[in-house]
Amino acid sequence: MANLNRELMLRKLEKADHLPSLAAVVAPLLQYLRQPIDSLQVNEVTRLISQDESLTAQCLHLANSPLFGLRGTVQTVRGAVLNLGMRRMHEIATSCCLLNLTPKDCPMDPTVLWEHALGVALASRYFAQSVGFPDPDKAYLAGLLHDFGVIMSLWAAPKEFAQAFNKAVSSHVPLIETEEEILGISHPEIGRMLGERWHMPADLIQVIAFHHDVEKATEHRALVALISLVDLLCRMSAVGYGYPEDRQVEFGVEPAFQLLLAECPELKQLDWERFTFEMETYLVEVQRLVSLVYRRS
Ligand SMILES: [Fe+2]
Ligand SMILES: [Fe+2]
Repeated sequence: MANLNRELMLRKLEKADHLPSLAAVVAPLLQYLRQPIDSLQVNEVTRLISQDESLTAQCLHLANSPLFGLRGTVQTVRGAVLNLGMRRMHEIATSCCLLNLTPKDCPMDPTVLWEHALGVALASRYFAQSVGFPDPDKAYLAGLLHDFGVIMSLWAAPKEFAQAFNKAVSSHVPLIETEEEILGISHPEIGRMLGERWHMPADLIQVIAFHHDVEKATEHRALVALISLVDLLCRMSAVGYGYPEDRQVEFGVEPAFQLLLAECPELKQLDWERFTFEMETYLVEVQRLVSLVYRRS
């Protein structure tokens, strides 16, 4: 099995600065969505999304899912923005932009990556609400982007990334281990590097860089801990990149649990069994939605 030298991987990442599929539609939309939410205009969001047929279709699939609050009741992007509000539409549009970030000739099925991103995003928002975390919308965005480095790795070195991924799946170990082994660099480091280069917000960079090692986070530690716990939960269930990792986890003794507890005392009262049961049903809908988005667009 080829082992990509770390230096070579870093050189490939240097060139990942321009993402071709981002250029036409997604970049202006993402740029617009970076403004504070209350200054966004319905007409402009609608116009930017409607420029592309497949992006429009994807946004409507998400808007019509019970996961975002509606049940098959909107047929236009404008209707979705008006019915769901700008906050939800911001989540939907950002999610669809991310779902479009698949390199051409992708050597693996990217569906599992999107299921994981969307699953962690939705579960993080739900978990944040359940434990009284002050900003559930931020939790959604951080959940969506926490494995940003994985997508960048897939762009920079598709074949080698697919090897690392397949090895993780067949040996049921965390992806980070096989990335180190095969690529010489793992997704938190890649994500941090590109996130900083592209001026992502500091809290998102902390999540991207430290969700596998929460104690190293220097700020926004509660957010990092929250995403880390939900990521772990998803990796133990149906949306962990398509395979459950081969280990036992006791959430109460995880460092992330203690960190989050310091900010959200309600976490102590959380009924884990009930929560994980609810999550399983929730995540089945995530899988249905991702396959719908991919099949029809
Ligand atoms: Fe990760
Ligand atoms: Fe993850």
